[in-house]
Amino acid sequence: MREKLEEIKKAAVIELKEAVSKEELESLKIKFLGKKGELTKILRGMGGLSKEERPEIGKIANEVREKIEGIISEGLDKIKQIETEQKLKNEVIDISMPGKKQIIGHRNPLDITLRKTEDIFLAMGFTVEDGPEVEYDKYNFEMLNIPKNHPARGEQDTFYIDDNIVLRTQTSPVQIRTMLNQKLPIKMISPGKVYRSDAADATHSPIFYQVEGLVVDKGITFADMKGTLEMYIKKMFGENVKTKFRPHHFPFTEPSAELDISCFACGGDGCTVCKGEGFIEMYGCGMVHPNVLRNCGIDPEVYSGFAFGVGLDRIVMQTLGIDDIRQLYESDMKFLKQF
Ligand code: DAH
Repeated sequence: MREKLEEIKKAAVIELKEAVSKEELESLKIKFLGKKGELTKILRGMGGLSKEERPEIGKIANEVREKIEGIISEGLDKIKQIETEQKLKNEVIDISMPGKKQIIGHRNPLDITLRKTEDIFLAMGFTVEDGPEVEYDKYNFEMLNIPKNHPARGEQDTFYIDDNIVLRTQTSPVQIRTMLNQKLPIKMISPGKVYRSDAADATHSPIFYQVEGLVVDKGITFADMKGTLEMYIKKMFGENVKTKFRPHHFPFTEPSAELDISCFACGGDGCTVCKGEGFIEMYGCGMVHPNVLRNCGIDPEVYSGFAFGVGLDRIVMQTLGIDDIRQLYESDMKFLKQF
């Protein structure tokens, strides 16, 4: 039996050394150590041994088993190592290869102009307020002194969510929200998207941007409004730009004005851009109507204020010489990269 065990050990050592794959090692394991394996066969025959021989043969059989198991686990480790090395070799990254260039977008001129506007007003002590684009009819029209059936609603037809909720046609409802929710004095601008039920063409878009402004305090006058807007315009467009206030009508301001600025293209002489006028109509503005103050619980006998509103798209188009508003919304990189 001893010789038989020695033979098994020798054979196992030779065969296992030749094995080069996991599968081969597994099948040799079964061959030598499995339930029907050679070593198991010997162990089964141990019943026929004498008392003295049994522990001795048992010890040798265990040694043979341990030896075989040792070789198998060494073999498996080696194969694993070879596989890992092979994998690492195959996955080598050639760092000298040119990379894939990331395409980075470009800021939209609307955004560039808006940031500049915000910076100027922040420096004058204004805050920047936000308001929802889906707005109550009450805030977008009624509390701004535009009741149902008011003709001003005709110019600002919009998209109705239901009878009481609309996509806001102007940023002016943020005036109402700010007066209702904040303590006086108020000095804010509010930029954002607005909507009108207009078909898109070169000068119309159903979505565009406005910037609203509102100042409410004791003793605010038309002169404060003129000074503030003139300061803003000089910072925005340059010291030499001239301004002109023209009487106008807005339901939520009294008196109201439109603010024109000298033409960017001709400087005021008259050209095709300004249609010979020398000036371009830019801003709506005025002293906040007493009804609007009252609607927000502010006593017009004690407080007064001014407000203004401007279409950001119009500023961008005029200053950058863009003649089709749709280009501002098309995300065409060839167009955007120019600015
Ligand atoms: N919301 C006006 C519009 O869309 C613009 C405007 C005019 C805003 C005068 C104002 C203002 O705050 O005082 O036409």
